[in-house]
Amino acid sequence: MNSQLLNSATWQHGEVRLVCVERWHETHDVISYRFQAEQPVKFQFKPGQFITLLLDINGERVGRSYTISSSPSRPYSIVLTIKTISDGLVSNYLADHLQVGHRILATGPDGVFNLVDIETEKYLFLSAGSGITPMYSMCRWLEDTQKGSDIAFLHSAKSPRDLIFHADLKQFDNVNEHFNLAYSLEEGELQDGTAVVEGRFSVEWLANQVADYQSRTIFVCGPAPYMQAVKSALIEAGFDMERYYQESFGGEPTSTVNQAAEQEAKPFMLHISDKKVDLSAEQSLLEGIEKLGLPIIAACRAGVCGACKCKVVKGEVESSSQMALTPEEIEQGFVLACSTQLRSDALVEL
Ligand code: FES
Repeated sequence: MNSQLLNSATWQHGEVRLVCVERWHETHDVISYRFQAEQPVKFQFKPGQFITLLLDINGERVGRSYTISSSPSRPYSIVLTIKTISDGLVSNYLADHLQVGHRILATGPDGVFNLVDIETEKYLFLSAGSGITPMYSMCRWLEDTQKGSDIAFLHSAKSPRDLIFHADLKQFDNVNEHFNLAYSLEEGELQDGTAVVEGRFSVEWLANQVADYQSRTIFVCGPAPYMQAVKSALIEAGFDMERYYQESFGGEPTSTVNQAAEQEAKPFMLHISDKKVDLSAEQSLLEGIEKLGLPIIAACRAGVCGACKCKVVKGEVESSSQMALTPEEIEQGFVLACSTQLRSDALVEL
């Protein structure tokens, strides 16, 4: 078995059947799942990338992307670390059903928010909540492969009981003199000497903690309001945004109706076979397809993974991402539904 493992093929891209070999709680509402491939492989991915799980839930195919929290420097398994969201269909399904020994289909890896496509010498990781997962993969990778890397890591959480990966990060902080770990917590304290401030992210905190932050490359991941606040604060502080990168997907879609969007005028009609729904200029094609109850896999919901590809047969549309499409597909009228809005009535094929 050992030599078989050592000589196993490398999985780099595409679909793979995973077997859950371990699961454990990181915090009260965050669970890590470790997977190996059904046929032994070495997983090759870039630290920071995500994988898309393809599940059948209540008879429907559902896809959802999650960052790999483990590092490719430990290639025989991958770990996904997932926060259970109260109305999150997939995270709840996994928490309730995915046990050791269960098999699951996945595809990937994908994502440009990673340490191979973005190279630098001086890292500044800013994260909040479960946005810590790509940062942890990156830190583990750097610690395993480039000892002594210059890393500043500022993480924001609600309280000490919400801190994910604290023991490992503390260990990096202890053994690497160039690793600078600090937290902002809305409540509670840590008694182990880690730098902690009360409250949320602020540039003042950043400047106090990381005096040379202006010369670093910044990686940001967390809930959308957090990323927005960090971005605005850095722009205001005159940071060179050429060295600013943020992960562009995260939370699960919820069933909450967006009131503002509901009240907007909806000038365009989306037709798909014999069904139709009206959409505003702000709503995505994906929202329309989901409203119609039609089957579509929307994994990243950010124009990255390509799962929501569909074809515009008639009508005008505007797309903010074509990242996952080939020039031929674009020529043929394919779009990414999550990143496309109507500019006229349209006929679409799934
Ligand atoms: S859901 Fe990933 S590209 Fe649209």
